[in-house]
Amino acid sequence: MSAENLVRFGVSVDKELFTEFERVITEKGYTNRSEAIRDLMRDFLLAEKLNQRGNDEVVGTITLIYNHHVRDLSDRLTALQHEYYRVIISSLHVHLDHEKCLEVLVVRGDFKTVQLISGRLLSIKGVLSGKLITSGVL
Ligand code: NI
Repeated sequence: MSAENLVRFGVSVDKELFTEFERVITEKGYTNRSEAIRDLMRDFLLAEKLNQRGNDEVVGTITLIYNHHVRDLSDRLTALQHEYYRVIISSLHVHLDHEKCLEVLVVRGDFKTVQLISGRLLSIKGVLSGKLITSGVL
């Protein structure tokens, strides 16, 4: 980066957020806060770029953690996976403890559909957390 292409900017954040951010980037091995922020900006822009590829075919995973004791939850998750059997091409189930399950679904399809499936799964009551990771564009 040449000096003339460098932009400096100030950011106001609350102390708690700042302290936590500093702790995490140090743990991750960053020695330079600017580099951590640059990486976050690049990730954000990449995610946005992927978001605009609605009709492109992507491959990725949807990871879910849920409590299988929640009434009808397992049935609802299974029904949704059958509804999208052409896009959800594989799955892995791990019983984490007496209540919680982890599921990893491998998806392949147009990005809009993959996002829709992810959104529908994550919004089901009893799904504790989850994430869609788009690993590649075909
Ligand atoms: Ni289980």
